[in-house]
Amino acid sequence: MTPHPDIVYVLFTEAEIAKAVCDMGKRLRNYYADKNPVVVCTLKGAVTFFADLVRAMDCPVQFDFLQASSYHDGTTSGGCVQIKKDLETDIAGRHVILVEDIIDTGNTIACVKQVLLARNPASVRTVCLVDKPDRRTADIQSDDTCFCIPDAFIVGYGLDYAQRYRNLPYIGVLKESVYAK
Ligand code: IMP
Ligand code: MG
Repeated sequence: MTPHPDIVYVLFTEAEIAKAVCDMGKRLRNYYADKNPVVVCTLKGAVTFFADLVRAMDCPVQFDFLQASSYHDGTTSGGCVQIKKDLETDIAGRHVILVEDIIDTGNTIACVKQVLLARNPASVRTVCLVDKPDRRTADIQSDDTCFCIPDAFIVGYGLDYAQRYRNLPYIGVLKESVYAK
């Protein structure tokens, strides 16, 4: 398949993503088989990853959804994100799996994890599709990761640039000319 014209090259194909997500699902199932975890999808970027991951887990789970405001748009102060859409589940005493699309500076996930830990869950583990450790400023690591990459701006499989490209079935590097416009 010819990639979208705004893509420089495909970094991970559909097949490579399917394998990595399936492997992570099996690792999670081994750990959470008898824990009925609350699997939290961070909107919107993690939706595609979340949908495939929970189907690869093959054990009882509960879904919930959370949306943090992006600090990139300059609407938040103090370097911490705000919760735009909160969970419906009371997570006190529950095992929580926080599913994130990308950990870049780590600020988003560090703030969200702090908010969740304040609710006294039994545990919180963060898992992400893509880790970009070169740009990390927050003191946080992913507990499990599908792909670790050097700094590059990528889209597809849920990841966007200005709300575009989320439905590409692969992950590709976006042409600089698209965001330099
Ligand atoms: P952080 O708070 O710097 O870790 O930013 C994480 C968020 O920034 C992710 O959840 C994405 O929404 C967004 N982000 C960071 N890098 C990329 C990228 O390469 N493509 C698309 N979104 C990205
Ligand atoms: Mg995101």
